[in-house]
Amino acid sequence: MTTSLSAESTSLAHRHLLDVSGYTDAELRLIIATAQDYRKGGTIPAYPDATVATLFFEPSTRTKTSFQQAAQRLAARTVSVGTSGSSVVKGESLKDTAQTIEALQADVFVVRHASPGAAHFVAQHTDGVVVNAGDGARAHPTQALLDACTLADHYADVSGLHVAIIGDITHSRVARSNIRLLRTLGAEVTVCGPPTLLPAELEEMGAHVTYRLEEALEACDVAMALRLQLERQRAGLFPSLQEYHAQFGITTAHLHAYPDLRIMHPGPVNRGVELEAAVVDHERTMILDQVANGVPVRMSVLALLIEDAG
Ligand code: CP
Repeated sequence: MTTSLSAESTSLAHRHLLDVSGYTDAELRLIIATAQDYRKGGTIPAYPDATVATLFFEPSTRTKTSFQQAAQRLAARTVSVGTSGSSVVKGESLKDTAQTIEALQADVFVVRHASPGAAHFVAQHTDGVVVNAGDGARAHPTQALLDACTLADHYADVSGLHVAIIGDITHSRVARSNIRLLRTLGAEVTVCGPPTLLPAELEEMGAHVTYRLEEALEACDVAMALRLQLERQRAGLFPSLQEYHAQFGITTAHLHAYPDLRIMHPGPVNRGVELEAAVVDHERTMILDQVANGVPVRMSVLALLIEDAG
């Protein structure tokens, strides 16, 4: 099933996409509906005079590749800077790197960085349009948008859904952006994980909290598992990977017990930890739909921001 979200707005009242906070329900629906329209063969605008720079100071497979594909499908030029192979290894700062790339005619910056606020910093120090592609544990807005697009493809009414987000919430920018976006669209959100991996602010953000996987799965339509950041295991935030999987891993037994349950995961997955390997490949798992939606959703974000900056 593909259900289009109806879009009441026709443009965004924003220069940048630094987080989904501040974006209205109508603006978020516009981004998703525009992505769905491109996918269905709608007219794709061309921006041959725009140069989109991907500044990725953390590893990425999905986000970087899909932003590059999105820019190319909009006929924009692309340049790419990462830590390795650039003058960042010689100590060049983020500000100097961004301003150097701006001097080379880039006008859109897609920024991934380990420091929360890095994309805001680039927005303050350049005249370009900035899209946050993940800053520390703070925000990953285009991931949340492509997740919502995937939900809109499979369910008639995203605002009537209940989504459980399971795993390491404390260190997850995906969880924070998803909670904000899903709550803005009117969906219910439950978060679930070990107490050591659930931060204090979740209820203030409008999410229910449970430490019991069964309680989360009973309540939800969709379970979004998060990558267990293995370095947290060394920090002693949970006893062992086996114990984590036994308490919070989603298995084929859960898929049998909850026959309408669908599974999401932003990737990359630790098979056998947050998801049993067979669940990753199961027909009710939407991981590759999420990945595929990365391109049209990022095309939509780039096009709407470039158009408004015009
Ligand atoms: N989901 C996500 O951000 O994946 P990458 O780190 O591969 O971009």
